[in-house]
Amino acid sequence: MEIRYLSRADVESLNVSMKEVLEAVDNGFRLKGLGKTEMPPKPGVHPREDCFIHAMPAYVREVESAGMKWVSGFPSNIAKGLPYITGLLILNDPDTGLPIAVMDCAWITAMRTGASAGISAKHLARPDSSVAGILGCGVQARTSLMALVETLPELKQVRCNDLYPESTKKFIAEMSEQFSSLEFIACDNPAEMATGSDVIVSATSILKDAKPPLDESMFNEGALAVSLDYDSAWTSGAMTAADKFVSDDINQLLSTKAQGHFFGGIPDEISADLGELAAGLKPGRENDSERIFSMNMGIAVDDMVTAKVLYQRAGEMNIGVMLPL
Ligand SMILES: NC(=O)c1ccc[n+]([C@@H]2O[C@H](COP(=O)([O-])OP(=O)(O)OC[C@H]3O[C@@H](n4cnc5c(N)ncnc54)[C@H](O)[C@@H]3O)[C@@H](O)[C@H]2O)c1
Repeated sequence: MEIRYLSRADVESLNVSMKEVLEAVDNGFRLKGLGKTEMPPKPGVHPREDCFIHAMPAYVREVESAGMKWVSGFPSNIAKGLPYITGLLILNDPDTGLPIAVMDCAWITAMRTGASAGISAKHLARPDSSVAGILGCGVQARTSLMALVETLPELKQVRCNDLYPESTKKFIAEMSEQFSSLEFIACDNPAEMATGSDVIVSATSILKDAKPPLDESMFNEGALAVSLDYDSAWTSGAMTAADKFVSDDINQLLSTKAQGHFFGGIPDEISADLGELAAGLKPGRENDSERIFSMNMGIAVDDMVTAKVLYQRAGEMNIGVMLPL
C-alpha cells in the first residue's frame, strides 16, 4: 500500500489551468446543488487570536473524490514573511477508504477560491461587467482575477487597493504582465477602488473585530460583491442592502454564525447557494440593477474536485514521490 506525495512544487509542475479548475469547481457546485455531495460544516481549532486550522472533509459522487483538507490561516504570518494559508490535503479511495495521496493544499486553496469568485461572477455579475475592484491584493486576489478574466468576457479595468501600497504595486506589476490587455488602477483607498466597479472581490484578513472599510455607498447599483474574507470587508448595512444574498454553502454560513464571532449582520434571508445556481435550481441575476452579495467561505467540495484533477494528472505524468503507508 502506497500513497502519492505531492509537494507544492509537484502540484505546480502539473500545470493545471484556471480554466480546468473552473470546470471542476462548477461541476462540484452542480453536484452539490443536486444533493450528490457529503460535506459537514468545517470544524477547527484556533491556537492564536484570529488564526484558524480547519478540517474540511467532503465526498463528491460521480467525480468519486473523497478526502479532507487540513488548512491553516494565520494573518500574523504576513509580518513574518510567511504565507497566510498553508496546509495539506489527503485523498482517500472511496471504495476502500485507503489514503491514496497527500498533497500541499496552498495552490489548491488559492485556485479553487479564485474559481469560486469566477463562478459567482458567471451566475451573478452583469454579463457586461467591465470593471473589477480588488480589495486586499494577496494570493486569493490573484487567482480571483485569473478566474474573472475567464468568466467576464467584457472585463477591461481592474481597480486595486491594499492596506500596503507596496502590495498593490506588486499585484499590478505581476498581473499586468499576465493580462496585458487589462488596465490596472492603483487606488489610494477602498472608496476609490469601489468607484465604478461592477464586481468587487474582497480578500483581506479575516478579523473578529474587523472595522469593515466598505459600506453600502460603495456597493453600486447592478454590482456584485464577492467576499472571500467573511464579514471583514463589508459593513452589515451593505450586506443587508443586497437585493440577493448568496453563499457557497448556507449550512456552513449559519453554523459559523452560530459560533458567535462572524456574520451577525447578514440578512435573514439567504437567496440561494452557488450549488443551486450551478444546478439551475434557482435563478442567478435577474436584472441589471440588482445588487448581489456572494459570501464565499470556501468549501471542501471545491477542494476535492480540484485535488482529483491533480491526482489524475500526477498519475499520468508520474509526478510526486510514492511513500509506503
Ligand atoms: N473564502 C475562501 O475560500 C478563502 C480561501 C482562502 C483564503 N481566504 C481568506 O482570504 C483572505 C486573503 O487570503 P490570502 O491568502 O490572499 O492572504 P494574503 O496575505 O496573500 O493577502 C491578503 C492581503 O490583504 C491585505 N489586507 C489586509 N487587510 C486589508 C484591508 N483592511 N484593506 C486592504 N487590504 C488589506 C494584506 O495587506 C494582504 O496583501 C484571508 O482572509 C483568508 O482567510 C478565503
